[in-house]
Amino acid sequence: MVVMHSSVPAGATGSDRAGGAEVIAALEEARHRTLALVASISDEDLERVHSKLMSPLVWDLGHIAAFEDLWLVHRFGGRPLLKEGLAEVYDAFETPRAGRGDLPLLGPAQAREYLAEVRERTLAVIGERGVGDGVIAELIIRHEHQHNETMLQTLQLAQLRDYELPGPPARDGHRPARSFSGLEMVEVPGGECTIGAPDEGFAYDNERPRHRTDVRDYLIGRTPITNATYLTFVEGGGYERREWWSREGWSWKEDYDIHRPAGWTADHRAEWRLTGLQPLAPDQPVVHISWFEADAFARAHAVRLPTEAEWEKAATWDQEMGQARPHPWGERPPQPGVHANLDQLGRGPDLAGAFPAGASPYGCLGMIGDVWEWTGSAFRGYPGFVPFPYREYSEVFFGPDYRVLRGGSWATRPRVGTATFRNWDYPQRRQIFSGLRIARDL
Ligand SMILES: [Fe+2]
Repeated sequence: MVVMHSSVPAGATGSDRAGGAEVIAALEEARHRTLALVASISDEDLERVHSKLMSPLVWDLGHIAAFEDLWLVHRFGGRPLLKEGLAEVYDAFETPRAGRGDLPLLGPAQAREYLAEVRERTLAVIGERGVGDGVIAELIIRHEHQHNETMLQTLQLAQLRDYELPGPPARDGHRPARSFSGLEMVEVPGGECTIGAPDEGFAYDNERPRHRTDVRDYLIGRTPITNATYLTFVEGGGYERREWWSREGWSWKEDYDIHRPAGWTADHRAEWRLTGLQPLAPDQPVVHISWFEADAFARAHAVRLPTEAEWEKAATWDQEMGQARPHPWGERPPQPGVHANLDQLGRGPDLAGAFPAGASPYGCLGMIGDVWEWTGSAFRGYPGFVPFPYREYSEVFFGPDYRVLRGGSWATRPRVGTATFRNWDYPQRRQIFSGLRIARDL
């Protein structure tokens, strides 16, 4: 997603100290993960621009600190900024990614120091005035979590050989009861459902308000499309058949000489994973494709991408109860490795359909985790949208330019990867952990 930040004041006030201990624990845990992700990376690789699409990793570190200082310490806590001069350097909105390699950024050691100094100030603010309604603190925690995924995207593009993802040893893939291609479909009856996040609890502005909507009967993929299925498309002329591509998609493909998903080798036998080149896993979801590619794949199969409403209904709508579930599997908070492949534990996508315990009311698998799923929908505000905490969080991106992705990836932290979370990006972007699920009218 395009996480950008500017300077419209938030209205968070209050002196309720409840929840302070949980907030501090979550802040500490988020920081522990951030530092662990970069612990084994040389200073040189932290400062290098690995891809024109991504910031150097050291920018993410400084930006996490600057964002926390701005929102929690300055806006919420009422204290002056720790480093006034850095606000602009680390403002994502002022400084687009392409130019971040040329900025006078803090070095790796200074950035770590900045993180620690800001965190001390944060703890002092929370000690003094609590967390208020908790919204700003939650924003800070999730922001750091989201940047962890961005950093992993950068690392994936950097192709640093032998990078070790920290944490517990990688788990063995979960073997589903049967293997899936991604072309298997389940039926979802039309009719009313609700879309969006409920009023209570934390959600981003673009997830609200929850509203009723209507869809027609449709079919949607039980799992995301796998590598084996996508390979058939590639080898069946997928990148040569003009009729399968939109006009914009075709010209993008021609201009950039695109022939296969971003991480695949030319012989289609291997793909770049976070920790190196690995044989292409046929039963795992395809990843690193643009919206244009997802759209072409769907056209080639006489299907389409689901709309956001179709995606969310298939993920959460409980027809019998007449209400949306908090998660596809029900009420329980996500347990990575049980309900979904989340939280970086899997080191990459798992087998499609690997977590039957995470099935949605209609039997869809893998809706949360593994790969972000491109939808057919442009990014727009829901009816009654109200910007929070500032217009630049999402409103300025509404319109036809961006497509929405849903469901989170293996690299998404569970706090962020919810069934109502909306990610958005340009249709030509391939650096994210993105795949697709198909749909069609019944
Ligand atoms: Fe950010």
